[in-house]
Amino acid sequence: MATQRPHGDYGIDAPWVPWMWVGYTVVYAALTVAAATLWEAWWWVVVILGLVTVASAAGAVLYWHTSLRGKFILWDGLLDRVTLPPGASILDVGCGHGTVSIMAALRFPGMTVTGIDLWRSVDQSGNTLTAAQANAAVNGVEDRVRFETGDMTELPYPDGSFELVTASLAIHNIQTREARRRAIGEAVRVLAPGGRIVIADIRRAGEYADDLRAAGLTVTTAPLGWRGWWSGPWVATTAVDATR
Ligand SMILES: C[S@@+](CC[C@H](N)C(=O)[O-])C[C@H]1O[C@@H](n2cnc3c(N)ncnc32)[C@H](O)[C@@H]1O
Repeated sequence: MATQRPHGDYGIDAPWVPWMWVGYTVVYAALTVAAATLWEAWWWVVVILGLVTVASAAGAVLYWHTSLRGKFILWDGLLDRVTLPPGASILDVGCGHGTVSIMAALRFPGMTVTGIDLWRSVDQSGNTLTAAQANAAVNGVEDRVRFETGDMTELPYPDGSFELVTASLAIHNIQTREARRRAIGEAVRVLAPGGRIVIADIRRAGEYADDLRAAGLTVTTAPLGWRGWWSGPWVATTAVDATR
């Protein structure tokens, strides 16, 4: 069953980024007007500045679209491919407002979901434990979704506890290669035999795929298209799908 965007408020990912594009738009629009009027610049200078203005505005719009709508459509597609045994447990690391935790709970009735996060507001606006809990409640899944505060590089769960581990746009927020490797190692450690890890992230898909293969999992990677572009194709979302 396709769930697409659940009810509730899911914030904006890295909320300062689209405003940066708005800032570029204002600056380049002013330069375009100044070049066309005050400076009487060559026509092609005006055209180039105008195109950069339009591209900057498009970057802001595309970013907001990906954060508010695109990533939900992408996760709908990723969860479509997942089959789980009855009574399975799901872990969503870096869950934020509960985007994937809640989509998984809606899609897999009877299964329990744990979302874990450090609730960093620089990574998502309005990011709090209570905001995630409110989203679970408004979707009627609060009895099957538990949100906890914790670090994905040191998961407080026993080995082999979860049949599915998800990470949506979260692991790239960890600064060092070593700590990201620990996050992948922890996802593998808590994964049950036959379990699956599904990651959607920007920039470091190859790194995660290498670490998962090194841990003995079978891994595929796939670009997720324009709905995962965070302002343009230069910041695209890639899926990493691994089975044990
Ligand atoms: C861009 S948000 C994405 C949130 C959510 N997965 C989604 O797709 O809407 C990244 C999330 O990762 C969390 N995060 C960053 N570093 C973390 C860590 N070491 N452990 C747990 N969560 C972390 C942030 O607090 C934030 O909620």
